[in-house]
Amino acid sequence: MSSQTKPQILLRREEITSAVKRLAAEIERDYQNRYPLLIGILKGSFIFMADLVRQLDFPLEVEFIRVSSYGRGRESSGAIKIVRGLTSVVKGRDVLLIEDIVDTGLTAGFVLDYLAKKKPTSLKLCTLTDKPSRRQRSVQIGYLGFTVPNKFLVGYGLDWDEKFRNLPDICFLENED
Ligand code: PRP
Repeated sequence: MSSQTKPQILLRREEITSAVKRLAAEIERDYQNRYPLLIGILKGSFIFMADLVRQLDFPLEVEFIRVSSYGRGRESSGAIKIVRGLTSVVKGRDVLLIEDIVDTGLTAGFVLDYLAKKKPTSLKLCTLTDKPSRRQRSVQIGYLGFTVPNKFLVGYGLDWDEKFRNLPDICFLENED
């Protein structure tokens, strides 16, 4: 794969928009009177978070956390650490963690464990995409946009070597099936 690889569309922007609206309706139904704390995992979640919260017409708080992982992928060490922590208080809040993709599950699992220790009233995960074929750790997904195949995805926040996050569609770079 090179930076010249042309991304092929997997999920068009219109499909993403309708999935975001569907998820927003589910979240609004469940959280509208709870002043939830929505926590996005940077960087990948930034576009999804921005689109999702603009579909939510009730009081909520937005937060971000950034984690880094070492040797992720086929040679994953599973070592993850927080490189940008939270400024909001989690204890006693209804927390919804926002991800762009759950792949091995290591990132979401780590952050869910970290947040659970802070004693939120409730804690759920909302992910735009789920790639179950690569799972190394089981995580419970409360709100799901799309189940995706085992392809390298870019766009709508997802990157390859920090490139392609700005693509409006979710694309794939090569077929890993
Ligand atoms: C990506 C993505 C998820 C994570 C999912 O983040 O945004 O956070 O990988 O993979 P996993 O389920 O195998 O842990 P990445 O670490 O590439 O950083 P980024 O969000 O800055 O792109």
